[in-house]
Amino acid sequence: MKSNGYQSGFGNTFATEAIPGTLPVGRNSPQRVAHGLYAEQLTGTAFTAPRGENRRSWLYRIRPAAMHGAFEPYAASLASGPAFHDDFGDAPVSPDQLRWSPLPIPDTPVDFIDGLFTMAGNGGTDAHAGVGIHLYAANADMQGRYFYSADGELLIVPQQGRLHIATELGVIELEPQDIAVIPRGVRFRVALPDGPSRGYVCENFGALLRLPDLGPIGSNGLANPRDFLTPNAAYEDLDGEFELVAKFGGRLWRASIDHSPLDVVGWHGNYAPYKYDLRRFNTIGSVSFDHPDPSIFLVLTSPTDAPGVGNLDFAIFPPRWLVAQDTFRPPWFHRNVASEFMGLVHGAYDAKADGFAPGACSLHNCMTGHGPDAATFEKASKADLSKPDVIGDTMAFMFETRSVIRPTRQAMEAGHRQRDYQECWAGLRKHFVAP
Ligand SMILES: [Fe+2]
Repeated sequence: MKSNGYQSGFGNTFATEAIPGTLPVGRNSPQRVAHGLYAEQLTGTAFTAPRGENRRSWLYRIRPAAMHGAFEPYAASLASGPAFHDDFGDAPVSPDQLRWSPLPIPDTPVDFIDGLFTMAGNGGTDAHAGVGIHLYAANADMQGRYFYSADGELLIVPQQGRLHIATELGVIELEPQDIAVIPRGVRFRVALPDGPSRGYVCENFGALLRLPDLGPIGSNGLANPRDFLTPNAAYEDLDGEFELVAKFGGRLWRASIDHSPLDVVGWHGNYAPYKYDLRRFNTIGSVSFDHPDPSIFLVLTSPTDAPGVGNLDFAIFPPRWLVAQDTFRPPWFHRNVASEFMGLVHGAYDAKADGFAPGACSLHNCMTGHGPDAATFEKASKADLSKPDVIGDTMAFMFETRSVIRPTRQAMEAGHRQRDYQECWAGLRKHFVAP
């Protein structure tokens, strides 16, 4: 399925048709839809959600989404292992700092679905609260298979290899340093134009991701709304023996389907997939001393009922200048009430001298002390502050949550877990001298 381009803006009400004259005028569900299509509404929020929160789209399609065979449990491949269970409590939650090397690329054909490896999560899919955190490592296109998650929207962060994501609402082309969000319920198929591919997926069970308020920053800055791109309608009219894989209730299910569900010829509404180029983030920092809290790097947030407290905060650490005077310029030592899952898409991360390669990830849970490693501390505490530092080749990110993030058993037992991670702080020397 070829891309038909994009529409610009965040959360806008869009209208798009792959064949002119598809969308009904002045109504949503006429007695007969143009071109013999079916009308179908897809709601992403409660019917009665306030207007500013309300998300739904009307889809005009060749066949309704109801048409498929019965679902049966999907025996996940070895690569998925015990992934996708709603009970993340099968492994002990350690207060240790945790870190993993990049997930190895498989040496047999594995597609995006089977390449998903659940690392951690919290909350619950049924209660629509919390997150699931997954990695993927894949080398094959999804052929004749389609996927959706009823449990949450999928925030996809590719690290290696482009993704061609054909969705019901159009095509998203993604490359490392881009992100995409696929809404809950939207069906899609992933192809890998570059072959071996790897990345991160945060499945947001909670309120839909949105742009954060800017407060005293004003009306511009951070991620600007017009840089978010939603695909124009595109469709395929395919009959055949295909498979629909659903994630529902924390588990995978499969059903036969005799046609492609990517058959939406036109749609309108504000519940749709989107992509964003992280390199367009307007990064703000201190021009005097100290540096702000990492909330200054917030791209998207999933709020909770508590003001300012995120079910999921997606923050990035992009290229930037460091000019603060009389200041330890790298990230400081800290402990937070929030729990932090970090990854690195590109380059190097300024708080760690080594051990955190692109594709790696770390988990620092609630009140677990962490910060720069010994080598970074020694270097930055002696650095010449009369000159600015530029961090020019980096793109790290964080999935931050209000709730403790529980690693899965397969993550704790994985061969790529760095069991010596704590050693990176072992070299911090005692400098204290009593007066
Ligand atoms: Fe942190």
